[in-house]
Amino acid sequence: MREPLKTYRALCTEFYERESHLNHQEALDFYLNYARHAKGLILEPMCGTGRFLIPIGQAGFAIEGFDASEQMLEVLKQKEPSAHVWQEFMQDFNRDDKRYSLIFVPYGSWGLMDNIEDSKKSLKIMYDHVAPGGKFVVEIETVASAPKTVNMWHRAVQTRNDGSYIALNTYPTYSPETQIFTAICRYESIVKNQIKTTETEDFKMYLYHYDEFERYLHDAGFSDIKKYQDYNKTVAFDNKAPLLIYECSKKRL
Ligand SMILES: C[S@@+](CC[C@H](N)C(=O)[O-])C[C@H]1O[C@@H](n2cnc3c(N)ncnc32)[C@H](O)[C@@H]1O
Repeated sequence: MREPLKTYRALCTEFYERESHLNHQEALDFYLNYARHAKGLILEPMCGTGRFLIPIGQAGFAIEGFDASEQMLEVLKQKEPSAHVWQEFMQDFNRDDKRYSLIFVPYGSWGLMDNIEDSKKSLKIMYDHVAPGGKFVVEIETVASAPKTVNMWHRAVQTRNDGSYIALNTYPTYSPETQIFTAICRYESIVKNQIKTTETEDFKMYLYHYDEFERYLHDAGFSDIKKYQDYNKTVAFDNKAPLLIYECSKKRL
């Protein structure tokens, strides 16, 4: 039996939900466009609080998703009770009865599988669940995104409507040998100047070398692999891109 996820618990989820992602609308439009071309059911693994899954569902597309975090899914369900989502780890996903015309994993979440063997195994799982002729679209962060200011504490705050707030202190480090970015994250919920609850997590993310991921996609069986460095589909051309977006296909039978 797999241990529960040690990240994305209550305070982390609340902080995440209050944070705004700079180019979210652009990212959402990018995935909505794939949804328009999909010929059937869509899947968003690692769907979190539903920042993509909910608006894509509300736009009329048949979409479902899963996530390992109970708390992230709880928030998603509060926002959209009718959403079809369930709790599951990517590495365990296995539905013989389901094939999807589009599977997508936005925002570099894929790298949260910091064990490269889990990543390779999960790509094979994704391939098995894409319908023939369907697409898989996934974003990964590269070693070029490794933070420049490491080994010092950073602080960020999200304030609630009642004036209480969540403070997040992070201490990032990066190892070029293992390609793993680590951050100790300490969340504090502060009400009337008193720390009420805390949560500490070891956040880990595997950062890929520029030409690493396409090998794994190819080994998993995907073909017609395209590699973009932004949501305008600028073809990736150098190893300075911090984020890479891969679009690939499963051949028709
Ligand atoms: C950065 S969040 C992104 C969520 C979503 N794309 C969004 O924008 O709301 C990453 C999500 O991946 C989930 N996650 C991390 N590791 C996972 C795994 N091995 N299997 C399934 N979900 C996982 C976390 O619980 C979290 O909700």
